[in-house]
Amino acid sequence: MKVLVSEQIAQKGIERLTQEGVSVDVKAGLSREEFLKIIGEYDGLIVRSNTQVNEELYQHAPRLKVVGRAGNGVDNIEMEGATKRGIVVVNTPESNVVSAAELTIGLMFATCRNIPQLHNRLKERVWDRAGLKGMELQGKTVGIVGLGRIGSLVATRMKSFGMNIIAYDPYISDARFKKYGVEKKEKLEELMAQCDILTVHTPKTEETYGIIGKEQFKAAKKGLTVINCARAGIVNEEALIEAMKEKIVKRVGIDVLEGEPHATSPLLDLDNVIVTPHAGADTVEAQDNVGITVAQEVISALRGEIVPNA
Ligand code: NAD
Ligand code: MLT
Repeated sequence: MKVLVSEQIAQKGIERLTQEGVSVDVKAGLSREEFLKIIGEYDGLIVRSNTQVNEELYQHAPRLKVVGRAGNGVDNIEMEGATKRGIVVVNTPESNVVSAAELTIGLMFATCRNIPQLHNRLKERVWDRAGLKGMELQGKTVGIVGLGRIGSLVATRMKSFGMNIIAYDPYISDARFKKYGVEKKEKLEELMAQCDILTVHTPKTEETYGIIGKEQFKAAKKGLTVINCARAGIVNEEALIEAMKEKIVKRVGIDVLEGEPHATSPLLDLDNVIVTPHAGADTVEAQDNVGITVAQEVISALRGEIVPNA
């Protein structure tokens, strides 16, 4: 059995595959053309978020039996094409959620205390805090859109900083809001009007793409901090820039950008936008978890065994 790994995963994952007799080629950074030329030789493919697994790819991959998504979101994988060809798609939904929640919180601190800007000034030998006064988190309100795995981890952690937590998630039970001590908001606009920090944690779907847009910013409290550690476009970038110009949004912390992995987003030009290059899951712990889990799932799928997270 041959597996192609098209984006970097942990060495422990590669070792697990080879220990089980799978022949593995790690080829990160191939052009799409080169990738399509060789994918036909493989029974399995392991990707992260940059490889688009779509109809074009399936047509070049007659041997493909399994796609392993080394991570959580499967928005870069076309499910219909896989299903109709009997290709199993597996992911690792639990393996990196703590890391993603911790980066979200890191971005809250970094934005609200202007840590990167202060750091940059001092590194240039300028001892000056002027114009960079921060905001305390205690007593402020965090508005969470999507109280799933990551949203709920953020909620419990931010409570310990004395913050009020409200959330909008029409797909979960009242019991889940209660379990995390989070106040339920029936309407997104209601959440926007009350929160000081907005953080989005939904999957990227047709419904959530642009869920925070012009209308939602109109309803927002002035001076809002916006964090997006989920997927590019859940917060519409154009509307966000407009809301910053209108001083509705004061600070932005963002891990996911339109056009990634290319650094083309206009958000990159704005001083009060703090950015990371889709690094939410980039910890040793998360990558080891993800690598080992995806390897095990791919092995099971290739052997025709029952696969968790398929
Ligand atoms: P999850 O499936 O556990 O939770 C998502 C929640 O969003 C669910 O509770 C669901 O009910 C809710 N939701 C769905 N549609 C909604 C809507 N229209 N309005 C409000 N709520 C809605 O997902 P998760 O594991 O918490 O992941 C959240 C996001 O984080 C995903 O987009 C995932 O891809 C992303 N992620 C990013 C990184 C990173 O590196 N930045 C790492 C891991 C996950
Ligand atoms: C995920 O969905 O797991 C994240 O995008 C992180 C990643 O793919 O590395």
